[in-house]
Amino acid sequence: MEPAAGITERLVERLRRARRLVVLTGAGVSSESGVPTFRGKDGLWESYRAEELATGQAFEADPALVWRWYDYRRRLIADVEPNPAHHAIARLESAIEGFSLITQNVDGLHHQAGNSAPVELHGNIWRARCTREGLVKELRENPLREIPPHCPKCGALLRPDVVWYGEPLPSHAYEQADAAARSCDAMLVVGTSAMVRPAASLPLIAKHNGAFVVEVNIALTPISVLIDASLTGRAGEILPELVDRVLEASLGDGAGGAGRAERAETHNR
Ligand code: OAD
Repeated sequence: MEPAAGITERLVERLRRARRLVVLTGAGVSSESGVPTFRGKDGLWESYRAEELATGQAFEADPALVWRWYDYRRRLIADVEPNPAHHAIARLESAIEGFSLITQNVDGLHHQAGNSAPVELHGNIWRARCTREGLVKELRENPLREIPPHCPKCGALLRPDVVWYGEPLPSHAYEQADAAARSCDAMLVVGTSAMVRPAASLPLIAKHNGAFVVEVNIALTPISVLIDASLTGRAGEILPELVDRVLEASLGDGAGGAGRAERAETHNR
């Protein structure tokens, strides 16, 4: 098979030499599993855009509407499987000691693929939080019997344990992500439009701190011109090949695996 365009020896070498490798993912990594992206043409639900429903104001105005949307998304996600992009990322974790995964996705597919501790910046759709006491609970019931659901303990409304527009990210998750971005040698940015901050700032923080930053996306994004390389194509096709090549190169060089070589020099386009 022809190598995917853009996966040059130099790029493979830069990733191979990273002691600390961070992967940052967005909705595009799950799109080949059948999960709609937020800003794609399939992102609409009953004529609502995600930006209209994923807000505290929408929930206050009509919690049942917002929960119906989440119930729909939960049903959609319940039956999907991780795709080759998720599996390739899980292989990186098994092979590289200094590996971290940061995701904006709430679908839990990275965990299902075998990643042990993805940092979930935007929460998880399979958990709910009590609007009165803040208690977080797993909520796997699917479809939901009661919409909107209520807290079994105090009877208050439950909300999805996800981050909505205008809300801060969970501080522990953001601190972990920020620290990983600051200290990594390389970052792979997969399937994110890089439009929602602060997640979208992480590749720039990494770049600013000297990391080699590569994105994998079907389209160019606002960060494409600011980072080292853009691999244009489907994550499910590019990542398996990229990961094979990075890991093969690591095994072949006698260095004892990716992540053990010296910190790479950075380069600009
Ligand atoms: P978006 O829907 O904004 O962007 C998805 C990105 O994936 C786009 O850049 C697509 O070009 C790309 N893409 C689609 N299919 C792909 C494929 N097969 N392979 C590679 N790339 C592909 O999703 P996010 O960037 O994740 O936040 O959105 C960020 C946040 O905005 C979400 O987490 C969510 C949303 O509002 C909250 O809910 C707080």
